[in-house]
Amino acid sequence: MRICKHFGKCGGCSFQDIDYKEELKIKEENIKKLMEFYQIPTTLLRPINYYNEWFYRNKMEFSFSYNNDIVCGLYAKGNNSLVVDIEECLIFSLDLPVILKTLKEFVKERSYIPYNKFSRKGFLRNFIVRETKFSKELMIGIVTTSHCDFDKVGFVKTFSSLKLSSNLKSIYLITNNSLSDAVIFDKKELIYKDEFIFEDLDKFKFIIGINSFFQANSEGALDFYKKIKKYASLKKENVLDLFCGIGGIGIFLSEDAQFVFGVELNKDAISNAIENAKINNIKNISFYNSDVRKFLNLEFNYKDISLLVVNPPRAGISNKIKRAILRLNPKVIIYSSCNPTTFFRDIKDLSLKYNINFVEPFDFFPKTPHTEILGYLKIKD
Ligand SMILES: C[S@@+](CC[C@H](N)C(=O)[O-])C[C@H]1O[C@@H](n2cnc3c(N)ncnc32)[C@H](O)[C@@H]1O
Repeated sequence: MRICKHFGKCGGCSFQDIDYKEELKIKEENIKKLMEFYQIPTTLLRPINYYNEWFYRNKMEFSFSYNNDIVCGLYAKGNNSLVVDIEECLIFSLDLPVILKTLKEFVKERSYIPYNKFSRKGFLRNFIVRETKFSKELMIGIVTTSHCDFDKVGFVKTFSSLKLSSNLKSIYLITNNSLSDAVIFDKKELIYKDEFIFEDLDKFKFIIGINSFFQANSEGALDFYKKIKKYASLKKENVLDLFCGIGGIGIFLSEDAQFVFGVELNKDAISNAIENAKINNIKNISFYNSDVRKFLNLEFNYKDISLLVVNPPRAGISNKIKRAILRLNPKVIIYSSCNPTTFFRDIKDLSLKYNINFVEPFDFFPKTPHTEILGYLKIKD
């Protein structure tokens, strides 16, 4: 078994030294423990769905820092102030070593100064790389403060002449002057070629923007979307897809649905979702740029929803959203999450009115402790 050279120092993957079969067992045991804790009487579909355990991620976000020299990498295990200089990442891309080496040479030659989050001074903040796994397209974005001028022409010239196995389609310069540690897009400027890259999932094409959510594991997402379509087994019924991102689940379901409504807070994701419906020639879908809580409580008065799809961020859903869902009264809820703890908490609350027919884990995040999980809930008679 090959282990990444940064294992132990980098905070990225803590399960790299565990045999993959063993890792899947640990994840299954964790799910069982949560089911026991929340006393959820349901069937756990097993074994966990799994995919390529290496080079599966389609997006990484690195940070710049200064540690005797300019470094660009990931936060150290248990230390969010220290950046480990990364040369390779075995869960991401084979092209990454060349990309990061080129990047570091480029910024060192120009003596750019990394941003220091404590003094709030400096220029270089983050580096974003997205790589589609089926269509093999690459997008990169460098995030800086507006402290000095960035050599856009040199950057494009350097990266566009690299020999990579994926096809570099898009380069962005992003400005972030915010005090937050998160990557905030104050301004984004396309400096090379295409605004978007495209991933192929089954017969559908999906636009991926520099700033929108896409399930981190493309192979896993394909299987997950197909399974949701199978479990939904819609007969021209209406679907409401909450936290729809760029519309992946709704687009897969649209073929069998009467109509699909998608709701999402992020403006860029919504415009990608609208574009995704267009390029896939889907007419029975519409997307709403709104907060789910506001949408359910104030904006949506359509009653005839058979299937509700819920795929929230890690924090899960609030009690207000749960109460609105219970009032909406869909026949079936397919709830999925990348956080099994909030997932079980939330479906337990929904079990007031719903039977939890089964739950099913998907290993979207090999080498890390994280698991995606789906639950099928049917309204009680
Ligand atoms: C786990 S992702 C779901 C992605 C999507 N279902 C898919 O398969 O690609 C969660 C999404 O919820 C969105 N989101 C977060 N808070 C929200 C809110 N209060 N209302 C609506 N959408 C929200 C995020 O922008 C993100 O796109």
